Formats: sequence, structure tokens, C-alpha cells
Amino acid sequence: MLLPTLIFTLLALSSSLKLPPSFQKCNRKQPDFKECLLKAAQNGTAQLNRPVLKDFNIPNLEPVKVLEAIISSGTGPVQVEQMFRNCEVRGLYLVKFETFDWDFDAKSMHFRVFVSEVNLRCDYNLDGKVLLLPIRGTGLATIRLTNTTGAVEVKYEEVKKAHKTYAKFVSSKVIMDPKNVHFNFDNLFDGDKQLGDNINNVLNENWKEVFDDVHDGYSELVGQIFLQHMNILFSKASLEELLD
Ligand SMILES: *[C@@H]1O[C@H](CO)[C@@H](O)[C@H](O)[C@H]1NC(C)=O
Ligand SMILES: *[C@@H]1O[C@H](CO)[C@@H](O)[C@H](O)[C@H]1NC(C)=O
Repeated sequence: MLLPTLIFTLLALSSSLKLPPSFQKCNRKQPDFKECLLKAAQNGTAQLNRPVLKDFNIPNLEPVKVLEAIISSGTGPVQVEQMFRNCEVRGLYLVKFETFDWDFDAKSMHFRVFVSEVNLRCDYNLDGKVLLLPIRGTGLATIRLTNTTGAVEVKYEEVKKAHKTYAKFVSSKVIMDPKNVHFNFDNLFDGDKQLGDNINNVLNENWKEVFDDVHDGYSELVGQIFLQHMNILFSKASLEELLD
């Protein structure tokens, strides 16, 4: 399995602007620190759909734009590389945090989330096989994940700048467990509607098998989105400022 390559349309990471005051902070010594983190993560994420955050140079999570993503062939039924361009991912800012743990010694965070609907819309290019059937085409793809539970682990390094410590997130691991995945690839087989509908139906009837085979590629994509956004947020406030 190869990891997808990603090029994000993100703004410069080096903005010195602060976090918006509407983002909550937690004190490491407060007795309800864990609950505070959970609330702050929830509250902060829910705000990421607002263009007003442009003033703070924080990119919207709604939608997340990804210029290019390549989801590699699986090792099972999905014998095709999925080339995506000009993607918009919608719904991520609506994630509900179920747990949020920050391990200062291990320099890692773990959280579990639930999101009822995530939509991915991209220009696609495919040429290969799925479930032994040929699949080929180029057009617009929409992929919808319903009722998805996610487990995320991110690791960071501490970077000192002007006597302050900043978290720089360096790796992420995401596990996604959707209750349904719906695929629609428009214009398969040069627009042959019957063949195209057939393949889309086969994909949707076998969504679990198909998704499981490319889970790691999609997880990597989501993990990169988390890393990018967390790096922007955490570049705006030192750990001392965030935590006391
Ligand atoms: C975040 O918390 C602030 C302050 O408690 C509150 O005013 C705001 O409505 C919350 N925003 C969201 C999106 O939950
Ligand atoms: C998703 O969850 C909602 C609310 O619990 C439920 O009504 C719906 O049937 C679920 N959909 C799937 C595909 O599991």
C-alpha cells in the first residue's frame, strides 16, 4: 500500500496572528482538565465553518479543499488507483468528539469522534478493476460516508520559538468505521450510462468490501487534513498559552 500524495490549498503556516478569542483554553492544573479539553476541541472544531476566521488566517473546514489525492490500489478487490483532483470534503466540522486524551509525556493526542455524514466530491480518473470488473473513466465522483466512528492518534514534537513551546504535529493515524459508504462515479466508460450504472451499483452493493480495501488510503487523506489544521491552530498559541 502506498500513501496518497496530497497537495493542500492551505494558507501559509507562518502567520503570527493569534487564535480567535472564541477558542476555549484549558489549564493543565484544573481538576476537570480532561472534560475541558473535550469541550474545547468540540467547540473549536464547530467554529471552523466560518469565513470570519479568515481574519485569523484559519482555513475553513467547510469545505476542506484538496487539490490532489491519489488513493492507491488495495490488496483485495480494488485493483485500481483512484486519482482525484479538486476535491471538496464537507461535513468534517460537524464531528462530535466522544473522547479526547492528551498525553504530554508521549507527546500524543488520541480522540474518538462520530460524524453522521461526510461528503467527498472530486474530479476522478480511474483505469483498472474492481471486484474483477473493469472500471475506467474520468468525470465527477461523489463519495458519502454515513454514521462514521473514527479513532485518531496524532503525535507532535515540541518546537521552541522565542522562549515558548509550540506543538508541531508530525504524524497521524486514523481508523474510520462507517456504517455505509455510497459511491457515485459519473461518466464511467466514456459516458456509457448502462455500464456506468452497473459498476456504481456493484460498488454500492459491496461497499464494505470495497471500502475496507482502500480504508488506509482514505484514512491517510483524513489524517493529513487533521495534521494540517492542527498545525495551523497550534502554531497560533504556544503550549504555555494554551495550557498555563
Ligand atoms: C463556544 O464557546 C463559546 C463560549 O462558551 C460560546 O459562546 C460559543 O457559542 C461556543 N461555540 C460553539 C460553536 O459551540
Ligand atoms: C445513521 O444514524 C441515524 C441516526 O441514528 C439513523 O437514522 C440512520 O439509519 C443511520 N444510517 C445508517 C446508514 O446507518
